Amino acid sequence: RRRVTVPELSARKGGTPIVSLTAYTTPMARQLDAHVDMLLVGDSLGMVLYGMESTLSVTLDMMIAHGAAVTRGASQACVVVDLPFGSYQESPEVAFRAAARVMAETGCAAVKLEGGVEMASTVAFLTKRGIPVLGHIGLTPQSVNTLGGYRARGRGGQESNAIAADAFAIADAGAFAIVIEGTVEPLARQLTNDLAVPTIGIGGSPACDGQILVTEDIVGLFNDFTPKFVKRYADLGEQVSAAARAYADDVRARRFPGPEHVFAARPSGVKPGGS
Ligand code: KIV
Ligand code: NA
Repeated sequence: RRRVTVPELSARKGGTPIVSLTAYTTPMARQLDAHVDMLLVGDSLGMVLYGMESTLSVTLDMMIAHGAAVTRGASQACVVVDLPFGSYQESPEVAFRAAARVMAETGCAAVKLEGGVEMASTVAFLTKRGIPVLGHIGLTPQSVNTLGGYRARGRGGQESNAIAADAFAIADAGAFAIVIEGTVEPLARQLTNDLAVPTIGIGGSPACDGQILVTEDIVGLFNDFTPKFVKRYADLGEQVSAAARAYADDVRARRFPGPEHVFAARPSGVKPGGS
């Protein structure tokens, strides 16, 4: 399978659901690559990998380092990298400079940024200059301080209308698809119906044109909190803990290392003088 392109993702509107997961590292990207259409290097890595309280402290350099790690591990999935807080909100020009660095230094195919009506001119500025943009509306974690928390969005007519306006503004500006996060199901469904570009839900609606989740959430490697929209498919955290416990027991009982793990004075089968 050759690499999935941005136009191919856009063309999936109303078709087979787009499958997407987050990836932050080369080994994880290698595991996920064959199974998904899109890998997102999300700024959620601030919380999931670095133990930060929110995504606000994630830097452009962090996103570039992890973005490059993921593109090295993925040959089939379309790789999208999040623009972090502070790298794009100021102006279209500032956003372009940040996004161009991300594209050039990671080899990803597109960037994602959060926001609606207020970011539309920036989305248009980037897409017209060769940088595909994935939108992100509804619950936008970089705005946690103005939203006042991570509660679901779209309850109530005014909030619902604002989210719809955001979706249409970003779509009109040229976003190739839009992530709808933490948004009440009927609104996510309505937007999926009305928008010409694919919607990718995370706590959205099964009607969305695709779904995305944070990989560590679904495999049990991030347990600080688990949002309602997460489905758990494995418990790797428990397996890591069990492996560490077994190793500790072995070392303390001198069961490890065994004869097969130590170097003989002379490698077996190799004659003296050989190498
Ligand atoms: O940062 C992230 O992981 C995200 C998604 C889960 C959509 O933005
Ligand atoms: Na994000």
